[in-house]
Amino acid sequence: MPAAGRHFLQIPGPTNVPDRVLRAIDNPTMDHRGPAFGEMGAEVLALLKQVFQTSGPVIVYPASGTGAWEAALTNTLSPGDHVLMSETGWFASLWREMAERLSLHPEFIPGDWRRGADVAGIAERLAKDSSHAIKAVCVVHNETSTGCVSQIAEVRAAIDAAKHPALLMVDTISSLASIDYKHEAWGVDVTVAGSQKGLMLPPGLSFNAISPKAEAARKTAKLPRSYWDWGPMLAANATGFFPYTPATNLLYGAKAACEMLLEEGLANVFARHDRHAEATRRAVRAWGLEIQCAEPKHYSSSLTAVRLPEGHSADALRGKILEKFNMSLGNGLGQLKDRVFRIGHLGDFNDLMLCGTLSGVEMGLRAAGVPHKEGGVQAAMAYLAGNA
Ligand SMILES: Cc1ncc(COP(=O)(O)O)c(C=O)c1O
Repeated sequence: MPAAGRHFLQIPGPTNVPDRVLRAIDNPTMDHRGPAFGEMGAEVLALLKQVFQTSGPVIVYPASGTGAWEAALTNTLSPGDHVLMSETGWFASLWREMAERLSLHPEFIPGDWRRGADVAGIAERLAKDSSHAIKAVCVVHNETSTGCVSQIAEVRAAIDAAKHPALLMVDTISSLASIDYKHEAWGVDVTVAGSQKGLMLPPGLSFNAISPKAEAARKTAKLPRSYWDWGPMLAANATGFFPYTPATNLLYGAKAACEMLLEEGLANVFARHDRHAEATRRAVRAWGLEIQCAEPKHYSSSLTAVRLPEGHSADALRGKILEKFNMSLGNGLGQLKDRVFRIGHLGDFNDLMLCGTLSGVEMGLRAAGVPHKEGGVQAAMAYLAGNA
């Protein structure tokens, strides 16, 4: 039977697309080589710079985030180059696998999937690399599989303290426009992002914000690339155009989404996400359940991953919640499969949507027979009411 009312899409991306963005995408498709497109393209590229907090170029691909990972690596590196990565979770592991497939030599600092990147480990490894064999440090800002955030400014400081020339590449696929992120001020060389999370767009666009140092590295980088090459992109983008057919209608949406974020103010957007994350954690604690992120300094404001008591299936719980309450929650990935469920609280989201989400979880815990205490929603509401 078709469910009445709106589906609750509370996975940590793709997120709910606001009506204003949907209406923008709904405009007739235009000639991507005509003058009107050039104007719109230039506007979107300028707006994106503000969201990435950079004055440098932001490249847009008609691709998912994985494509932008590949673009970051292939534009700057050569076969056999060492790259230093930190095992924050599933997405850091996938990025490492990609580096291997591209004939790079990833060095993976092991992690327990319960905190952000190991900054001390990165510092230690760079200090030992006197020959500068490591060409890039790659870090996932918000690890979507665990709900843990890496301290990017600290990673930058570690690279600088070691006086190491490695490039810094950061995956912000589930943090951009949800958690404060400063491409330029934090000295990041390549920022990787996607459209379908904090940017409140459907899947289908991904991004590389690049520094002058990254742009210079492209000139000597020998990994094969064609579709992903920044060169033709930067040349065409100078007049608002693209070297191949862009995802025209998603760009209309990107313009509307950036405008919404900037009207709200980035600082307010981040504060809204922080507040919803804190309310969620209060609910989880009141239920007597455990938050996957074990380091409070690394708590994510985009999502909260919740561990189930031993012997209980997170997937069974999610299935019950979908069936009874028409809400999708994120599944556990990799070693966390069936062990955690993930509550997405990012994107176009407000207090009552959060209360609805948490109510669905609390009712689901009861329906699925997961041992818990009642009062999680109450704890979240008390926090939200006192922190308007
Ligand atoms: C942190 C992170 N990195 C990379 C990816 C992969 O992006 P995509 O699925 O858009 O290719 C995701 C997807 O959820 C992600 O959350």
